[in-house]
Amino acid sequence: MDAIRIVGGAKLNGEIPISGAKNAALPLMIASLLSEEPLILDNLPRLRDVQQLQQILSNHGVSYMIEGKRPGQDTMAGQTVHLQAEEIIDTCAPYDLVSKMRASFWVIGPLLARMGHCSVSLPGGCAIGTRPVDFFIDGLAALGAKIEIENGYVVADAPGGLVGGEFTFPRISVGATHTLMMAATLAKGTTLLKQAAKEPEVVDLAECLIAMGARISGAGTDTITIEGVEKLHGARHSVLPDRIETGTYAMAVAMTGGDVFLRGARAELLQSALDILSQTGTTVESSADGIRIARNGAPLKAVSVATDPYPGFPTDLQAQFMALMTMAEGTATITETIFENRFMHVQELARLGAKISLDGQKAHVTGVSKLKGAQVMATDLRASVSLVIAGLVAEGETKVNRVYHLDRGFERLEDKLAACGATIERISA
Ligand code: EPU
Repeated sequence: MDAIRIVGGAKLNGEIPISGAKNAALPLMIASLLSEEPLILDNLPRLRDVQQLQQILSNHGVSYMIEGKRPGQDTMAGQTVHLQAEEIIDTCAPYDLVSKMRASFWVIGPLLARMGHCSVSLPGGCAIGTRPVDFFIDGLAALGAKIEIENGYVVADAPGGLVGGEFTFPRISVGATHTLMMAATLAKGTTLLKQAAKEPEVVDLAECLIAMGARISGAGTDTITIEGVEKLHGARHSVLPDRIETGTYAMAVAMTGGDVFLRGARAELLQSALDILSQTGTTVESSADGIRIARNGAPLKAVSVATDPYPGFPTDLQAQFMALMTMAEGTATITETIFENRFMHVQELARLGAKISLDGQKAHVTGVSKLKGAQVMATDLRASVSLVIAGLVAEGETKVNRVYHLDRGFERLEDKLAACGATIERISA
């Protein structure tokens, strides 16, 4: 299996292009199931999760065509992909596909809405927590679906079609909001989703669905209203920039020092994280084209944070921020409120010399004056990239194993960092 080798110590200087957001790309691709006409997505990132979802969708009958590059086009530019579900050939999403990627469970919404029946494997737990699907089941039932759990599958039926209804999410869930919003677009009547997720990826999906003919208002607020329509049509939509990739590189620059322009990043998508980064002593300047991150000589200050749904500090940046705090002056407390088991990076950061103590959902991080390179590995995407950030400043060589986690969600990570002066390379197994 490939590994990433880093020799720490270099400052980052230059420019990093920000890719399309993984967590917007996945629900947008799934939305193609709602129409028999083509959905064209621009700025789709080249990621393992995107490829994996392509396979899952093709199992349902979605054709997938990647537009070729035009001469002179930037090699870092996102892809343009045509997805078309002219006919749904299979309404079953099997265990061996769904268990590889949790978000593929979300097909349950469009399949049920369009076909009136589907069976989708329960995704099972994952490294960051148990991650149940009760809100999906209760929400679809509120739209008139009859749902049974049989042999590890959620079997959903709505023979006469879904009907509009009202559902209040017991707590904020990004995936359940995406799924119910997609399902409600083809329901008869009006649906009200209360205590909905307000994440920018929900707004991006709503905008794409509206372009496909859906009638949705309130995405980005607590209450989303969807008036069902008979059919959706084709559309073209550009995937929004990845706020987690943006925040990750911002923290990498804060960690190493230097000056980097994150081209294409949009500050309003991660304002809470940028505010925290400013408090650490890092310069953050946003403009219409991107965000400049710099730290030249200023000491890193410890700042405590708690993760929260949008617009709060994202759980998907918690591990990266913890890596940054391992070198800050003082002690920072980092509280994880979204997932119950999202501290697996703590033990690995400790291998590099970090001082972190765990107390339930809180991690107390006391800054040290230096980290030292070591072999490390992680069990999820964001934890893996936090080890890369730490490796960029650790003395000597750090080898991050299980790189496939990074490939799930970071496009050309080592190329982007190397272009800014990092000593980083992929070692093929
Ligand atoms: N939850 C339930 N029941 C449900 C659904 C969710 O109890 O039916 C709980 C979860 O267990 C969790 C909380 O609600 O404790 C929030 O989970 P949510 O449903 O919002 O997470 P998700 O939709 O499965 C997406 C992202 C995650 C990100 C979370 C939170 C994608 C593909 N995944 O997951 O991203 O951490 O929202 O913002 O969009 C990542 O990219 O590395 C990643 C894990």
